[in-house]
Amino acid sequence: MRNYSEFLAEILISEDELQKRIQQIGQQISADYCDSQSLLLICILRGGVMFLTDLMRQISVPHAIEFMAVSSYGMGARETTGQIRISHDLNTDIHERDVILVEDIIDSGHTLNSVLDMLSTRKPKSLEVCTLLDKAERREVPVPVKYVGFSIPNKFVFGYGLDLDDYYRNLPFIGVVDESKYQTE
Ligand code: PRP
Repeated sequence: MRNYSEFLAEILISEDELQKRIQQIGQQISADYCDSQSLLLICILRGGVMFLTDLMRQISVPHAIEFMAVSSYGMGARETTGQIRISHDLNTDIHERDVILVEDIIDSGHTLNSVLDMLSTRKPKSLEVCTLLDKAERREVPVPVKYVGFSIPNKFVFGYGLDLDDYYRNLPFIGVVDESKYQTE
């Protein structure tokens, strides 16, 4: 496996910038949900894991966490097709709970749009979205997003939860891929 430095074009968001912004979002969520008795953060695997674990440490109100996994039809493609399949559902009843969906990135919006549709049928008390990254110019379906870490340009990014062919999620920053130096599988 190659070292990321061989195809890193630039660091788009540094570790320090990420952590500072996550602290701000955590404080905002803590203020917004100070009266909540039932806050639940739902992380959509796998890219959102790093963000979730850092974010929850910045949230001072009591809360629980849950995980769900979805996959888009058309494996191997970087772009989602609009149809998703739930491969791991929640183990928790979200009825009458304050739910925040935690994502690493919103691109076309199809993933979140489908997940929001599905979760809203379970009648949570509230349902909001928190994403670290927002590639707004790529949006194909509108998604209501309450908390955004960073709006980013349409660049091929990796690190801090986002993978390149399943690797490099561990990097503490968001990097941009030099596509002339990184060949996809
Ligand atoms: C990424 C990301 C979102 C989705 C966003 O997941 O975590 O779930 O794509 O794309 P969309 O807005 O176009 O639907 P991915 O399918 O890469 O899976 P991963 O989180 O396991 O890497």
